Amino acid sequence: MYHIDIMTLFPDTVGDVLSESILGRAQERDILRIETHQIRDYTLNKQKQVDDYPYGGGRGAVLQADPLYQCWDHICKQYDKRPHTIYLSPCGRTFTQSDAKRLAWEQDHLILVCGHYEGIDQRFIDECVDEEISLGDFVLTGGEIAAMAVADAVCRLVPGVLSDAECFENESHWDGLLEYPQYSRPEVWHGRTVPQELLTGNHAKVERWRRKQSLLRTRERRPDLYEKLDLSSKSDQKLLSELERELSRLPLPRLVECRPAKEDDLASMEVILAQAKALLAPIGQWNDNYPAREDFEADMALKTCYVLTCCGEVSGFFTLSPQPEESYSAITDGKWSSNEPYAVIHRCAVAEKWRGSGLADRMAAEWERLALTWGLEWLRVDTHKKNKAMQGFIRRNGFRYRGNVLVEVPPPYDPRRAAYEKRLRHPAPDVKKTS
Ligand SMILES: C[S@@+](CC[C@H](N)C(=O)[O-])C[C@H]1O[C@@H](n2cnc3c(N)ncnc32)[C@H](O)[C@@H]1O
Repeated sequence: MYHIDIMTLFPDTVGDVLSESILGRAQERDILRIETHQIRDYTLNKQKQVDDYPYGGGRGAVLQADPLYQCWDHICKQYDKRPHTIYLSPCGRTFTQSDAKRLAWEQDHLILVCGHYEGIDQRFIDECVDEEISLGDFVLTGGEIAAMAVADAVCRLVPGVLSDAECFENESHWDGLLEYPQYSRPEVWHGRTVPQELLTGNHAKVERWRRKQSLLRTRERRPDLYEKLDLSSKSDQKLLSELERELSRLPLPRLVECRPAKEDDLASMEVILAQAKALLAPIGQWNDNYPAREDFEADMALKTCYVLTCCGEVSGFFTLSPQPEESYSAITDGKWSSNEPYAVIHRCAVAEKWRGSGLADRMAAEWERLALTWGLEWLRVDTHKKNKAMQGFIRRNGFRYRGNVLVEVPPPYDPRRAAYEKRLRHPAPDVKKTS
């Protein structure tokens, strides 16, 4: 059993707090025993006075050494071994989680001494105290809150107090990191959603997201802790470069518009096209000659080419056509869900500087809006089998994989494409006829 004795002028307050909830139940199960001691009970004067003026003058009073000593000695005499004695003081070393671990695992009995007034007589500290602990760089009226904090932090690490070591091993300060943000039901509250990664049910993805958030939080809020971390592992390095990329992204401006593309837009569209081609070059999806200015001009003539503008600047483009795509009729390894008319997405890209800003999601919302305006309830799109980024993006936006289609590309390019579809809204159910 782990013992804590607390010397205080307010034993009832301290006792009440520490016998609630988890610590209360651990005491009922004899894993812990926390006892409070009224320092006044150990004074020899009738008034039960425990303080006096400070030598040398000055304001306030000082807790006298002898009542403190008598109380401490009374506790010590009940045990064979002198308990580790801590004076809670703003002059002590600041308490940390490693102190909590050390005290929980290297000691089995603590005496916590709560000061009051201007503090306590130094001679008691010199004779009886093993260490001084501060709760932080501020001054409290008395040591009680500090003693309760230390007792609580130590006791929850005593084996058996919490159901599982996992309860504290993933928490802030355990391994020098701050904890990731936590969410509980409902999934949407006041319009705020739970991060998508936590809803996947994929344990590895959840763990990865949590580690990344912990790193980010620690870096932003506690650079002092962050600089002590060992982040040399391959997986941390990968997370850090992802974070760098994400943090360098621009936030999406309020003024984003979608409109049919005009000839004047072609120069800006070609810049975005060159950026997209550079990105897709390793998988060979778009090549030197495709798509080209002529493809955009043809789309414009058909009024199927659109641009997205951020504060008036062309920042993305796409083609959305209400005409069925011939190659989609020969789908393999699967099938389309419906033969109903659909809109098909071709040639879409966002400018490099807006990648990751949410502009692509905005573009996906525009596909839906336009298709619905045309009375079409299905969207179809295809992308290169190796274009994982595009596939992830369309899946996130509600598209489902349906099979493979073959597109016309010059050799040696791979003509196979992954085909996806999305149903935009479920038609209203048939109204039952009543006779
Ligand atoms: C008003 S304080 C005395 C402060 C003292 N005169 C000083 O300036 O260092 C009274 C008591 O509160 C407790 N206390 C105050 N601030 C504390 C802190 N940051 N951490 C732990 N205990 C504290 C100590 O037990 C102290 O004896």
